[in-house]
Amino acid sequence: MDKVRVGVIGIGWFGEIHVDTYMGIPNAEVVAICTRTVKRLKSVAEKYGIKKTYTDYNELLADDEIDAVSICTHARDHLLPTLAAIKSGKHVLLEKPMALTVKECDQIMDAAKDCNQYIMVGHICRFENNYAIAKREIDEGRIGDVLSIYARRNIEGGRALPHLNVLSSITGDAVHDIDLMNWMIPSKAKSVYAMASNRRNLPHPDVGWVSIKYGDDAFGVSESIWNLPPTTPYDIDARMEIIGTKGVIYINESAHPLVIDDIKGRKIPDTVYWPVVHGKRTGALSTELSYFIECSLKGKKPSIITLEESREVIRVVEAAEESARTGQVVNL
Ligand SMILES: NC(=O)c1ccc[n+]([C@@H]2O[C@H](COP(=O)([O-])OP(=O)(O)OC[C@H]3O[C@@H](n4cnc5c(N)ncnc54)[C@H](O)[C@@H]3O)[C@@H](O)[C@H]2O)c1
Repeated sequence: MDKVRVGVIGIGWFGEIHVDTYMGIPNAEVVAICTRTVKRLKSVAEKYGIKKTYTDYNELLADDEIDAVSICTHARDHLLPTLAAIKSGKHVLLEKPMALTVKECDQIMDAAKDCNQYIMVGHICRFENNYAIAKREIDEGRIGDVLSIYARRNIEGGRALPHLNVLSSITGDAVHDIDLMNWMIPSKAKSVYAMASNRRNLPHPDVGWVSIKYGDDAFGVSESIWNLPPTTPYDIDARMEIIGTKGVIYINESAHPLVIDDIKGRKIPDTVYWPVVHGKRTGALSTELSYFIECSLKGKKPSIITLEESREVIRVVEAAEESARTGQVVNL
């Protein structure tokens, strides 16, 4: 096999970005897409020249021409397509978060236990250069033992609205930084205290703060605010400060080197996560999907992010949601 033939399930906003990103990966070919809305299915298939279209993911999964799938339904709809995809024997790239509860994660882990193919959750930040380099420097002892990590991941309020129908800013975005903290701090999360607010009376809170105690003396704090004003010039304000016993690492993904001022005002385009350059999607998503394709092609079990680690993030996130609801510290 010199190419992985991919099917993408769930063609909303991010499913189309997956399709577009696979188009730029030499060893990947998108042969089929599946989504519930026929009009959307047809328009995306025409745009990218994809021959096979399905409205039922079970039919896509029964297609022998497909080796691997990306599951890009929203978080509340991750479980069933993932269980079916594992059963079908295809490699699976499941978008983050793995699921909304640890119980659902365990169902996925059980199904994946004896399978021969690879299942990977798309924790994109592990594939983003700045975080990945920070992790390497920590592992090489450059800043000593990590004492504290502060992370920010804030977005404009209007853009967040569709996601807030499904999940809070904590489950939607703090999940990225909690995964990075779990990755960078060797001890396990021991307790969680979180606060969340919902001034816009949306289905889920759009303002979240999470503090986590790791082991006896390391701390992680995550800020995820999905309520920045419409004039916000960047797609995302993502930062991290990692303080160790011998040094500090600062990451500021909002201090972009590219600033465009035009008649509509200031725009700071994404140059990190999935920017289009010379007609191809580049950045962290392309690195992540290329890694998934490489693992599928070479028979290599994904190790940059494992299913156990993806479940562990949900264990902490679920505790954070409980803490935000009850106002109590949750011991893990
Ligand atoms: N890694 C990242 O940085 C990042 C960024 C954005 C979104 N995401 C993740 O991507 C996923 C999708 O997000 P989105 O904003 O594109 O969601 P969305 O709601 O826009 O799209 C989901 C699509 O899945 C379709 N769908 C749902 N159930 C289906 C089913 N049973 N069969 C076929 N199609 C079905 C819906 O009709 C919809 O078109 C989420 O899990 C989200 O967390 C990740």
